[in-house]
Amino acid sequence: MTGMADEHMSKPDFGQDGFFAVQGLSKTFTKKSWFQPASHIHALRNVSLALSPGRAMALVGESGSGKSTCAKVMAGIYGPSEGRVVYRGRNLIAGKRRADRKVLSSAIQMVFQDPFAALNPAHTIEHHLKRPIRLHGLEQSGLDQKDRISELLELVQLDPEITRRKYPHELSGGQRQRINIARALAVGAEVIIADEPTSMLDVSIRLDILKLLKQLKEEKNIALLYITHDIATARYVAEETAVIYAGQLVEWGPTAAVIDDPQHPYTQLLLAAVPQAGVPFNQSGDRSNGDRVRAAAALDNDRIIEISPGHFVRDCRI
Ligand SMILES: Nc1ncnc2c1ncn2[C@@H]1O[C@H](COP(=O)(O)OP(=O)(O)OP(=O)(O)O)[C@@H](O)[C@H]1O
Ligand SMILES: [Mg+2]
Repeated sequence: MTGMADEHMSKPDFGQDGFFAVQGLSKTFTKKSWFQPASHIHALRNVSLALSPGRAMALVGESGSGKSTCAKVMAGIYGPSEGRVVYRGRNLIAGKRRADRKVLSSAIQMVFQDPFAALNPAHTIEHHLKRPIRLHGLEQSGLDQKDRISELLELVQLDPEITRRKYPHELSGGQRQRINIARALAVGAEVIIADEPTSMLDVSIRLDILKLLKQLKEEKNIALLYITHDIATARYVAEETAVIYAGQLVEWGPTAAVIDDPQHPYTQLLLAAVPQAGVPFNQSGDRSNGDRVRAAAALDNDRIIEISPGHFVRDCRI
């Protein structure tokens, strides 16, 4: 690997006492079949990362790299094969207590890729916001409840009076995604894990949703994990960026450092695939180089190098 200054062998102390962190997370899926030996997919390998209130981290990688698996373990939807999920100093996985599960289901919220899937076509938007409030025992008296719903809709920049009576099919994809974000806020989300929240939306409104997430992060002090396969968008939202391939983080640090001074060949590959004005798409790298980089990036390698303060890269030789 070239161009590295200030080599350390130190491992990052990611989130030991963090607000919300995962430490040494691994997830193996086992496929069993009557006719063949069981096969194992190592979807996550020793992943550690930490989120802080009012800040965002982008988790970037290609399809199948383990982003959604990481999100689902963080949100308590999957249990990890190994590792810890720590929220305000408590290991939510080891605990498995009712109280811990309740924390996971309210403070840590996911926003999914498909804005329609999470909404029930038979119910109004008002119902969609009332229900999580009731399920989490957060309801207030009648009038306050109405105010609360108006407040939530205003937070996601929708007109409360018009929107509350509508059904999901009467809204655009972007508006529906705003409702999903409002639902996360309704139950008091402190951490939002947004798994490709704009990839199913019209290109013209993607930036608006990213701007909303960025604004909520800042104004509501939300800790945001923004998952994307589009590394260029990390810059809009996230102070930090982590790049994942084949279930392991290959490079992470301040977004500007990772994007402007990428060290790992896989990060360089992702950046080369970003379309640039005047450069025809797909002329930015040959396929055999991509294959070599991916093969090397998939290997287990415990050697982590600190390039500059907070900017880490996993050693990789091709
Ligand atoms: N429930 C599951 N059972 C078995 N294998 C799974 C399961 N979920 C994910 N995988 C496998 O784990 C790996 C990581 O998948 P994951 O969905 O986390 O990737 P991703 O980065 O979110 O991809 P995409 O960008 O396509 O959403 C893939 O090889 C996938 O096939
Ligand atoms: Mg995914």
